[in-house]
Amino acid sequence: MNHQCVVIVGSQWGDEGKGKIVDVLAERVDIVARYQGGANAGHTVHVGDEEFVLHQIPSGILHPERRCLLGNGVVLDPFQFFEELDALTARGLDAEPRVGVSGRAHLLLPYHKILDRAAEERRGAGKIGTTGRGIGPAYEDKVARQGIRVADLRDLVGAEERLRAAAARVNERLIGQGSSERVDADRLVSDVLAIRERLYGLSTETGRVIHDALREGKRVLLEGAQGALLDVDHGTYPFVTSSNTTSGGAALGVGIGPTAIDAVVGVVKAYTTRVGAGPLPTEFPSPMQEHMRELGGEYGATTGRPRRCGWFDAVVVRYAARVNGLTGLAVTKLDVLDTLEELQIATGYRVGGEILDEFPGDLGLLEEAEPVYETLPGWQTSTADARRWDDLPAAAQAYLRRLEELTGAPIWFVSVGTRRDQIIHVEV
Ligand code: IMP
Repeated sequence: MNHQCVVIVGSQWGDEGKGKIVDVLAERVDIVARYQGGANAGHTVHVGDEEFVLHQIPSGILHPERRCLLGNGVVLDPFQFFEELDALTARGLDAEPRVGVSGRAHLLLPYHKILDRAAEERRGAGKIGTTGRGIGPAYEDKVARQGIRVADLRDLVGAEERLRAAAARVNERLIGQGSSERVDADRLVSDVLAIRERLYGLSTETGRVIHDALREGKRVLLEGAQGALLDVDHGTYPFVTSSNTTSGGAALGVGIGPTAIDAVVGVVKAYTTRVGAGPLPTEFPSPMQEHMRELGGEYGATTGRPRRCGWFDAVVVRYAARVNGLTGLAVTKLDVLDTLEELQIATGYRVGGEILDEFPGDLGLLEEAEPVYETLPGWQTSTADARRWDDLPAAAQAYLRRLEELTGAPIWFVSVGTRRDQIIHVEV
């Protein structure tokens, strides 16, 4: 792939296997930067026999010498971040000298998790099924202009004042909600001040670093978390996360102009999964649901929750291709379909007497939507050893070509297993 600044975005409901695609592409770049989300993400990467699950640190860290940045669009849980960093160091990676954090990134602190849990409890049957990592409340504070940023840690006295004010504000809110939980302001202050210097020491101007690198002809990957259908604007609102997961968020979330980006790779599973509540039009009935979950090992990397599974939904991915401006697709987990006799692809939705070919913004319509399926033969051969397009069985090639036609995006990569080498570079 000859592009200089590439965005990798999930193009379904997250868990598409972005970690693996970023890991493979990180081979050819100098910088990998996260632009949104926080520790709600769980990017699983296999290197040899080792498995790494990364929540906040970009997957590029597993390659020596790559600079890894967390942009201003991220909500940074500093305690979890250092735990992750220390775990990488303990496994022999010199991670810390290669990591930089935007001074403009907002801190996600323990009280955001308390608020996240409390909000979910209050929602009752209308639960979003959040990861409980405090994401929504941290972005609420950012937009309400009452967040605390990494840059705010420079001034010791000011940082303590902000933390105490936040604790008082959160406690007032908890009292108002009738909750018995409280934030212990002294503990909050001592915990944050204990990591203050270490974190502030890692702060950098991510936009400037990336801008300068691009001018020097270096290559940059902007790593998205979650997926297009979880985008706060373009997803299945309110069953979404609280950030812009789509490619437009990438420029904003690291601090460069959108014209600097020259490719957007949409990662999609060869079928569909979703974790948490909200519509999933192609969801399998039982027992196919459980069968696919076992075949694909579909359990959340962050929460361990079972993922809901369904057929590939071309309406979803066509929509994701448009809102992200996808230049190419990376299809993952093709091998999970190897044993199936027949495959279905949703090409449209039937709502009332009409066929919709556009993903609706109205959740009511989506709930009524009956997918219209096209059936294709399975290949019933292992694809795990395929390394070139021509190694794939004809039925698998036909399935992939049909995905391209229906979504309007060309396939650049096909992943056929968890290992680094189990990938087909269709177009590079
Ligand atoms: P939150 O981001 O924790 O607020 O959760 C909001 C919604 O996004 C829930 O449905 C979560 O299950 C989903 N979600 C958040 N992060 C991920 C992820 O990394 N993969 C898949 N789903 C996610």
